[in-house]
Amino acid sequence: MFLTLVKSIGSEIVIFQSIFYFLRLLFPFAGEALNLCDLLRFFLFGKEIKMDALYMQRALELAQKGIGRVHPNPMVGAVLVKDHRIIGEGYHKKCGEAHAEVNAIAAASEDVSGATIYVTLEPCSHQGRTPPCADLLIEKGIARAVVGSLDPNPLVAGRGIRKMQDAGINVSVGVLEPECRKLNEVFFHYITAKHPYVVMKTAMSLDGKIATVSGQSQWITGEAARADVQALRAQYTAIMVGVETILCDDPRLTCRLEGSENPIRIIADSKLRIPLDAAVLQNQADNPTYLATTDQSPSEKRRVLEQLGAKVLICRQRDGKVDLTDLMEQLGCAGIDSLLLEGGSTLNGAALEQGIVQKVIAYIAPLLIGGANAKTPIGGPGISDLSKAPRLTIDRIERYDEDIKIIAYWKEMMTDVYRHC
Ligand SMILES: NC(=O)c1ccc[n+]([C@@H]2O[C@H](COP(=O)([O-])OP(=O)(O)OC[C@H]3O[C@@H](n4cnc5c(N)ncnc54)[C@H](OP(=O)(O)O)[C@@H]3O)[C@@H](O)[C@H]2O)c1
Repeated sequence: MFLTLVKSIGSEIVIFQSIFYFLRLLFPFAGEALNLCDLLRFFLFGKEIKMDALYMQRALELAQKGIGRVHPNPMVGAVLVKDHRIIGEGYHKKCGEAHAEVNAIAAASEDVSGATIYVTLEPCSHQGRTPPCADLLIEKGIARAVVGSLDPNPLVAGRGIRKMQDAGINVSVGVLEPECRKLNEVFFHYITAKHPYVVMKTAMSLDGKIATVSGQSQWITGEAARADVQALRAQYTAIMVGVETILCDDPRLTCRLEGSENPIRIIADSKLRIPLDAAVLQNQADNPTYLATTDQSPSEKRRVLEQLGAKVLICRQRDGKVDLTDLMEQLGCAGIDSLLLEGGSTLNGAALEQGIVQKVIAYIAPLLIGGANAKTPIGGPGISDLSKAPRLTIDRIERYDEDIKIIAYWKEMMTDVYRHC
């Protein structure tokens, strides 16, 4: 009798799981949102789950509009739905300004009481630069809140959800969660690690060279790829190069994308070899350059550079150069949440060795440079045992005319990006 019961429950589980996987095939757009609890809900409210994923997708699109403008805050989007109609939309536009939920409510075309709100990140529960959004949703009589991802900020971390539940709001968490977490990979890293999210970006030839043997690197990639780099610069708070790149190329390291802010420029320069007429030292009033140096640099040159408007950061030494771990801590304390590391080879090598890189973006041009002494993207001693080389996971490959762009993560970071709360 007992065995028959176990067998029958067992076969029901198999049937249940088969239906579950079949549904995930049928509704791939629902992504990770379709977990076992949702499956039960699917039997009862199948259409509702599909709609949850679609409205959350719209909230994600809205959130993305805040790219490059909200840091160190997360990008957040919100959609208000009543009687199967969108009645309001909003997103967080700028750090210090209204949150997505407030903007969606302000934009609502009718009374929001009884509505469902779709929001990519858990509504805040604490008084920050703006009042708690969870309180506003309660006050406005929102009936249901569908949340993409929990907020890892220790000041929130589930409190926003509990506050809404305690007030009787029906809350669902985890709809399109991997997408919501990935959108805010910088925020999720910075709020917990307290140092910048570092993206190593290189542009190389098909034979893996970032410059010719004489040091020329302008330009390896074509116009379209270079325009995309400008978009990257608009996305991250700071940009960093080694002093040899300044000496070779004299770059401005600005963002030439219309309407975008310039990133903070950081130069790793242990002895302050930077020439006073370097392009990155001009127009300091709008955009100060940070010179990361050590106590080997002459104090007189530090003073002159500060008079030019640059900020001098004295870092610990590591093998006679700037200790990058110390630098990352100082930048984190200064509120710099993300950094685009643009090389060159020596600095990239040290960055990898010191474990400060979270993501790699490589542009590859169909060009053959050759030369045993021409620089490759990552210098330094390298790895002699192949089995110890970090193996990355490719997240995306894009094409820019003749050039390609590869975006890759460390495997464990990829898991973290897609981790469920
Ligand atoms: N295609 C590309 O994507 C790309 C991008 C950038 C550069 N480039 C090319 O790369 C070449 C320059 O690369 P590079 O390898 O010679 O130099 P680099 O990486 O630009 O600069 C290296 C210098 O930075 C200073 N530094 C300070 N702290 C450091 C640390 N912790 N680790 C390493 N360096 C530190 C060191 O000088 P001190 O000891 O004096 O501090 C070091 O010699 C140029 O030809 C440039 O055109 C190409």
